[in-house]
Amino acid sequence: MMKKEHSAYPESFSRRDGGLSTSRRAFLKTLVLGALAVPASALFARTAFAAQAGGDNVLIIYFSHSGNTRRLAGFIHDRVGGRMVELKTERPYPEDYDAVVDEAKKEQEANARPAITTTLDGLDKVDTVFIGYPNWWGTLPMPFFTLLERYPMAGKTVIPFCTHEGSRFGRSERDLRSLCPQARLLEGFEVRGSRVSGAEKDVAEWLTGLGLTAAR
Ligand SMILES: Cc1cc2nc3c(=O)[nH]c(=O)nc-3n(C[C@H](O)[C@H](O)[C@H](O)COP(=O)(O)O)c2cc1C
Repeated sequence: MMKKEHSAYPESFSRRDGGLSTSRRAFLKTLVLGALAVPASALFARTAFAAQAGGDNVLIIYFSHSGNTRRLAGFIHDRVGGRMVELKTERPYPEDYDAVVDEAKKEQEANARPAITTTLDGLDKVDTVFIGYPNWWGTLPMPFFTLLERYPMAGKTVIPFCTHEGSRFGRSERDLRSLCPQARLLEGFEVRGSRVSGAEKDVAEWLTGLGLTAAR
């Protein structure tokens, strides 16, 4: 079955303003506001902290319905190591595209918290948490709301990555900030689902830019 064009979704974040993506803008804004709110030393400390990540103190948690985000998670794991966990719901989503699109919309409208089977044991030993998801109706799939209300990632470095069909991060970074108010949110990575297979080099550059070159 043909996938729906992203114009079928309620909002499109695919526009670029003068070549600067909305997610990039949001990140720069965060940096500026962050720099005003905290001393520069704290910002540098954050980067140094991130640079030490790798191995056991990294968790990569992702949700994927059709495999794009899983693939992207694999590229990140190849670089930084750590533990990969797939977020699973008690009741799997339908495989049929139209059916899952409808179900996800209903869940979002109901502000539902779908039951999940995933537990994050040993989270206290983890410093850096990558959170990966497909953009579903402009934000994270609702199971992440279930997960992050249970594990709000206080004191951890949270790094989002997202696949989509044009909406980029949508409002997911804002939602992540609300769900994880005491986490340090770093610049995320987004790519169209159809382009994930060619994104390995961009992933490597992004991680290097974050100071996360350390592998296992
Ligand atoms: C329920 C549902 C809602 C979606 N909503 C959006 C959206 O709002 N904006 C967008 O760009 N793409 C949207 N997509 C497309 C997915 O984000 C995209 O295909 C993604 O790469 C799928 O990742 P996955 O293979 O890991 O599941 C949606 C897809 C589904 C199934």
